[in-house]
Amino acid sequence: MRTILQTKNLKKVYRTKESIFQALDNIELTVREGEFVGIMGPSGSGKTTLLHLFATIDEPTSGEIEIAGTDIMQLNEDQRSSFRRKQLGFIFQDYNLLDTLTVKENILLPLVLEKMKVAEMEQSVNEIASRFGIQSILDKYPYQISGGQKQRTAASRAMIARPSLLLADEPTGALDSKSATDLLESLKNVNETDKVTILMVTHDAFAASYCKRVIFIKDGKTFTELVRGNHSRKDFFQKVINVLPVLGGNIDDTL
Ligand SMILES: Nc1ncnc2c1ncn2[C@@H]1O[C@H](COP(=O)(O)OP(=O)(O)O)[C@@H](O)[C@H]1O
Ligand SMILES: [Mg+2]
Repeated sequence: MRTILQTKNLKKVYRTKESIFQALDNIELTVREGEFVGIMGPSGSGKTTLLHLFATIDEPTSGEIEIAGTDIMQLNEDQRSSFRRKQLGFIFQDYNLLDTLTVKENILLPLVLEKMKVAEMEQSVNEIASRFGIQSILDKYPYQISGGQKQRTAASRAMIARPSLLLADEPTGALDSKSATDLLESLKNVNETDKVTILMVTHDAFAASYCKRVIFIKDGKTFTELVRGNHSRKDFFQKVINVLPVLGGNIDDTL
């Protein structure tokens, strides 16, 4: 399988006037096409920092990041935003939908920016909406739908341009357990059916149990990794749970 994401000796140091803080140290990561990888770690361990580097929102202090064959540090600002639109999809904890647009318009936004033809856009939006079970709410506005529906809208928007890599930061963080399960089932479905590569940061062992591989980070370093293999999701959940006490820190604090 093609390598979608590869990092070498990734470091991130935050410098302020008063202090220097090393948020990431020597992160070596390889994600292959079609994987569904979870990243778990205590609050403050560097998960969001890592995702921001992959999202090309922030730059590492040193080290290399290659995504879908592109060394993202070599891109200028214009190339970077084009790369982001074409190769990456994002899901955030707080949905980030535009309130003045309908569900359908929110999902279509990335394609409008790509100047795609209307008929093609219609087909794409219908396909992706059916994957995420939101066909019936396409004409509603964000304030008219539930949190779970908002997150499935955000996931549809993230997927519509068929990105090489879907990045999700605590996507179930604001959802009740039924909505979280629906979202995770949909992500599992697009991962298995469309071979979409997913990297999901989560503090939640239940969410992590949907992944095929979970990487644990602690104090900005890779701590250990679990591969689901032939285990059932329930068994894998138990394996993830067993790592948490060893990992230490406050895993339930999502802030
Ligand atoms: N912009 C920043 N400036 C200084 N320190 C930061 C900044 N962003 C994050 N940090 C620090 O880096 C560490 C890792 O943060 P973060 O990646 O948000 O962790 P996580 O998502 O795992 O909770 C934390 O100690 C945090 O305080
Ligand atoms: Mg975070």
